[in-house]
Amino acid sequence: MTQILAFDIYGTLIDPHGIAVELQQLIGEKAPEFSRRWRDKQLEYTFRRGLMRRYVDFSTCTRQALDYCDTVFGTQLTGANKQQLLKHYASLPAFADVEPGLEALQQTGMQMVAFSNGTSEGVRGLLQQAGILDFFADVISVDEIGSYKPDPAVYHHCLSRVGTNAENCWLVSSNPFDILGAAAVNMPTAWVRRDPAVAFDPWETRPTASIEQLTDLISVVQNHG
Ligand code: LAC
Repeated sequence: MTQILAFDIYGTLIDPHGIAVELQQLIGEKAPEFSRRWRDKQLEYTFRRGLMRRYVDFSTCTRQALDYCDTVFGTQLTGANKQQLLKHYASLPAFADVEPGLEALQQTGMQMVAFSNGTSEGVRGLLQQAGILDFFADVISVDEIGSYKPDPAVYHHCLSRVGTNAENCWLVSSNPFDILGAAAVNMPTAWVRRDPAVAFDPWETRPTASIEQLTDLISVVQNHG
């Protein structure tokens, strides 16, 4: 049976900390810490909203997390500064290994889809400006069912959209919570360990495979029995 690859977007293909360059010009040396906290808070908001069943779309979580960080860091960003940052968030860069990795996978004829917390429109725009949209047969968004990763419902939604069984669809992600979410519905998983400082959560589940860059994915999926 043909294997399908579902790729997480933020942190896996697209670098959310690409925003630090823009931030640096506005807030100076606090930029890297602000960027990390912003990303963590954005994800925390998705987890909380998923649990509370109070869905708002990902761009709202991103904007509210920015407002939160502006307050705790005391950076006093203006409305225009925030607009500028959020605009830049829609044109973040892809990691350097992404294009060669996807190109090699495309040669094998394997079907690839994007699967993200971001809205379909937002993710399409992001992948388009990074020059990698055409690699994907489809863009699947949690927005279509109004919940967030790692709610099992969103992985089931992904599987029903690609029209295959869990065991034929890989989830490729740098986010350990995403890997655990996909493994919980029996999808094979490839954890892209982009940051050596990040440890995989010591839960009862491990990723099917761990890789350091996307160019290593092809041998993983080809050798998977
Ligand atoms: C995404 C989040 C997990 O792209 O970053 O789905």
